[in-house]
Amino acid sequence: MARRFAVVNQKGGVGKTTTAVNLAACAGSDGVRTLLVDLDAQGNATSGLGVERAQLEACMYDVLTSSESGQDAVGLRDIIVGTAVENLDVAPATIDLAGADLSLANAIAREMRLRRALLSVDSDYDLIIIDTGPSLGILTVNSLSAAQEVIIPIQCEYYALEGLSQLLDVVSLVRQQINPDLKIAGAVLTMYDARTRLASDVLEEVRRTFPGRVFETIIPRNVRLAEAPSYGMPIILYDPSCAGAQAYVQLYREVLVDEAARTGTGIVGTNLGDSGNPDRSNGDTD
Ligand SMILES: Nc1ncnc2c1ncn2[C@@H]1O[C@H](COP(=O)(O)OP(=O)(O)O)[C@@H](O)[C@H]1O
Ligand SMILES: [Mg+2]
Repeated sequence: MARRFAVVNQKGGVGKTTTAVNLAACAGSDGVRTLLVDLDAQGNATSGLGVERAQLEACMYDVLTSSESGQDAVGLRDIIVGTAVENLDVAPATIDLAGADLSLANAIAREMRLRRALLSVDSDYDLIIIDTGPSLGILTVNSLSAAQEVIIPIQCEYYALEGLSQLLDVVSLVRQQINPDLKIAGAVLTMYDARTRLASDVLEEVRRTFPGRVFETIIPRNVRLAEAPSYGMPIILYDPSCAGAQAYVQLYREVLVDEAARTGTGIVGTNLGDSGNPDRSNGDTD
């Protein structure tokens, strides 16, 4: 069965899409069959992987709102497209997805739409990563219902922890009502600038909030990470040697490879899992 992660934080601009795209790309290029599900109407994960949204005939909106059977039913398989990264496919989003809240308002089992859709491709992938948008609405609830684990990117800035208690409340609600196995994999600090006092203060505060649940890997602020999406490339294709790429390779190993090795289960990749050990203390800044 595929492992399923949702990347969630209802704040915009904290690094969700960058984390989802780059974790997925590291996994794919490591031989892990990976699907990235774009569940944000902004479609940044879709375009960040070089998929032209204007060319798409259907997207996640159609999958989530389509009736299960009938001639015009749109299945997940119908919309999935390949990317330039080996073993990495994307289930794309277009601006249509902005209508999902309204379309699903009175739909039956509306929180379970994504979970159901993923069942249909489960044997095709080892890993499914869901990128979510800046809200705790129905799309994010669908992501939490479909996932086994939640990754929470936290940007190193003032008010970094604002809104986190609501997010954790929604996670426990979904766990109670829909998805009892849902776990928090961890929080990952993003856009870390090692030169500032603020960054280390935020790190300390996040560690207090999520004891034992903060990934050791810290993603530095790195201008190459911000440039890559405009070329439609994940960082390991755009600039594999930059600090941002090394950090995401390390996060991939921490989240997926090390644990699999420890528990003897799950995903073990072939290439990146054995690659070097980048020096995190040397946070590259722009
Ligand atoms: N580590 C980083 N260093 C520099 N820029 C980053 C980094 N992570 C993300 N960005 C940039 O910050 C912006 C917000 O990141 P994004 O991943 O789109 O956040 P979200 O999906 O949470 O809205 C984007 O322009 C992105 O390219
Ligand atoms: Mg995003």
